[in-house]
Amino acid sequence: MRCSNPSRLNLIRMLPAVLVTVMLLLDSLAVTALTGEATHHERLPFPGLTVRGSFMISRGNAQSARILVAHRGASAYAPEHTLEAYRMAIEQGADFVEQDLQITSDGVLVCLHDATLERTTDVEKIFPERARILEGQPRWLVADFTLAEIRRLDAGSWFDQKFAGARVPTWQEAIDLIRGHAGLFPETKGPEDYRDRGFDMERMVIETLRRNGLDRPGADPRTPVIIQSFSAPGLQKLRNALGTRLPLVLLIGKDAAAEWLSPAGLRRAARFAQGIGPEKRLIDANPSIVKNAHRLGLTVTPYTFRSSKTAPYADVRTEMEHYLYRFNVDSLFTDNPDQFPRAPESPRKGASGNGG
Ligand code: G3P
Ligand code: CA
Repeated sequence: MRCSNPSRLNLIRMLPAVLVTVMLLLDSLAVTALTGEATHHERLPFPGLTVRGSFMISRGNAQSARILVAHRGASAYAPEHTLEAYRMAIEQGADFVEQDLQITSDGVLVCLHDATLERTTDVEKIFPERARILEGQPRWLVADFTLAEIRRLDAGSWFDQKFAGARVPTWQEAIDLIRGHAGLFPETKGPEDYRDRGFDMERMVIETLRRNGLDRPGADPRTPVIIQSFSAPGLQKLRNALGTRLPLVLLIGKDAAAEWLSPAGLRRAARFAQGIGPEKRLIDANPSIVKNAHRLGLTVTPYTFRSSKTAPYADVRTEMEHYLYRFNVDSLFTDNPDQFPRAPESPRKGASGNGG
């Protein structure tokens, strides 16, 4: 059938564009309802948190202070995930101290980045006969050892002899040390692998927080808690099945960038997380990620900033400054808490990379 009315014909031609606009509007309204945030201006970096006394984050402050997360403690200066590294991070002014979590064979959450013990302890010397051969290499899995056995290991000498005798801390010991001085930023490591061994890592994390009275936002204003993970299903479980209201951050490595950093991927992340934690070079390659995430009420916390690897930036302070004040990220993970720039500094030699 032919349409002879020109204005009706124009309307029919415009219909697809009108429909797309309406769908985009509805989508944005749905995300706003889920995150509880209306615009970037009203967005809180980490909802409802007061960190370290005078370090206040308040609603409506568009120029909010940036947040310093000490990566595995002050791990440029002390062996990662030891109480000494956590203590140093606090002394250097960390707002949050990160813990990577693993589970011992007798079901205790301990702080260790790797699922195996040989890189950061002397397990090879103490338990030479307990290795498994994985991909042709001897490996000592945390999950094969009881806490009492892991207690026997030296977790400091590999870094420097002056830290000889440092132990792998339980998460409870980390909480006891950090509480009242900084926030906790635990990461659930490999929850799917631990589920196959009969452990429910997400539930263990929430139960530990509950025992410590830290399982609700604002429960202890001096000790805010943010949970992070590369496992989207793990975070969805925390949000939905376990019903936590604590802020969640989805970590995004290069292999997951296509899935989560597209506009549609970010919208999906905003349904269960308050923030994203992309590998930092993903932002270098596409700085608009930050603006896109902020529009959805998501914070951005890239990883990892370390003095041992800063190219093409002159030093780690310059690099962090660029990400915080040019790319406009909310916070970041660094091995060098003492180098974190609390405010933009005057132009420094060696700054490079793309502006945001
Ligand atoms: O959790 C942020 C960052 O630490 C992720 O990388 O491997 O150091 O845990 P990874
Ligand atoms: Ca981590």
